Amino acid sequence: MKNSPFIYGNTVSTTSFTNREVEIEKLRSNLLHGINTMIISPRRWGKSSLVEKVIAEINKKEKKTKTIIIDLFSTSSEQEFLELYAKEIIKASSSKWQEWVTSGKEFFKKLIPKINLGIDPTTDFSVSFDWRDLKKHSDEILNLAETIAKKKGIKFIICLDEFQNLSTFNQFENFEKKMRSVWQRQKLVTYCLYGSKRHMMNDIFNNPSKPFYRFGDIILLPKITKEKWVKFIVKSFADTSKIIHPKDAERISLYMKGHSWYVQQLAHYTWNLTQRKATLLEIEKALDELIQANTPLYQKEIENISNTQLNLLKAIANGESKFTSTYVMHEYNLGTPRNVSKNKTILINNDIIHQMGDIFEFLDPAFELWFKKQFYKQSYRITDSYLLREPEAVYKKNSGK
Ligand SMILES: Nc1ncnc2c1ncn2[C@@H]1O[C@H](COP(=O)(O)OP(=O)(O)OP(=O)(O)O)[C@@H](O)[C@H]1O
Ligand SMILES: [Mg+2]
Repeated sequence: MKNSPFIYGNTVSTTSFTNREVEIEKLRSNLLHGINTMIISPRRWGKSSLVEKVIAEINKKEKKTKTIIIDLFSTSSEQEFLELYAKEIIKASSSKWQEWVTSGKEFFKKLIPKINLGIDPTTDFSVSFDWRDLKKHSDEILNLAETIAKKKGIKFIICLDEFQNLSTFNQFENFEKKMRSVWQRQKLVTYCLYGSKRHMMNDIFNNPSKPFYRFGDIILLPKITKEKWVKFIVKSFADTSKIIHPKDAERISLYMKGHSWYVQQLAHYTWNLTQRKATLLEIEKALDELIQANTPLYQKEIENISNTQLNLLKAIANGESKFTSTYVMHEYNLGTPRNVSKNKTILINNDIIHQMGDIFEFLDPAFELWFKKQFYKQSYRITDSYLLREPEAVYKKNSGK
């Protein structure tokens, strides 16, 4: 049996990657020309995959540029960050682990690195410092890549995923200032900073009173278009000896509103249920499966929000946008106008909804379908006119039946 051509759960940067030509070119060119770049988008639209893709391309072609990707998701203190940061820079600076030990020591003036090597140094290698020294001389680590780059005649590109996580550290403001002041003077190191908590990222990079304001270019990563998804889905089915009609592929993208992770998930479930040719039957079964698989998550999400927030979500699910009108406030029991405004901010900051002009939308398309079914008994089978199926004859003709 063939493997599914659709991937979700991991980043995709090779086989299941599609589109993003414009963003790839922009990011590649920025990083190679020394322009620091920040990437912001809602969760699971494809930031990490995009960076991995671009870095893989750079690694293939640019031998004098060393690249590093660090995920800061589970880093919980400044010390931990600095030690991880030093380790990754030392590792990237040479392909020989013997050099990590010597050069690691050579590049510090005030700090004394303790280097630990396991049986297999490539997987078991770490660097640690005395915490008091580290606190005093953290700039030596923040500048380590530049120091090494100068001595070795190389350049560095450093990508920090889930960058906003640093802002949860104690005394982040001081550290933030220090990072910015060291990094902005560097000539041989370029940064790519991205993360999925949008309001935190915005607060770090779009706030004129913060140190990282105007640190570089900001890319607001858009969704992948419907047309690209259709091509990708149809081709992926064909490559694995199955068939899907473009209209049905479009349906998958529309159901999931072009959300990268979910389109892949729904496409995968559909592919899995399909013997040879996917039809509406498989897609709808797949959708049921998808919603069911995610239901525990959605229930948890609902448990964590207050009653008035839930009511506000109900109003949004029903297409309301004038939340402070007397009718809407009454109908949905939204509390006071102050409640409404506070709840709106909370739901936005928690990435449950986003605002586009005057309209509010659920960020998670499958959660929205589940929510409407749960609270309004609305079937999530699409009946909207734009999704009405073409006459069966057209389908038969195109699918070669
Ligand atoms: N260019 C792409 N082509 C096809 N699928 C993609 C693409 N980018 C992302 N995806 C799908 O979306 C999923 C999430 O991607 P990724 O982890 O890169 O997003 P992210 O924005 O970094 O997410 P998070 O905000 O959770 O960190 C992937 O597992 C994959 O299924
Ligand atoms: Mg990511």
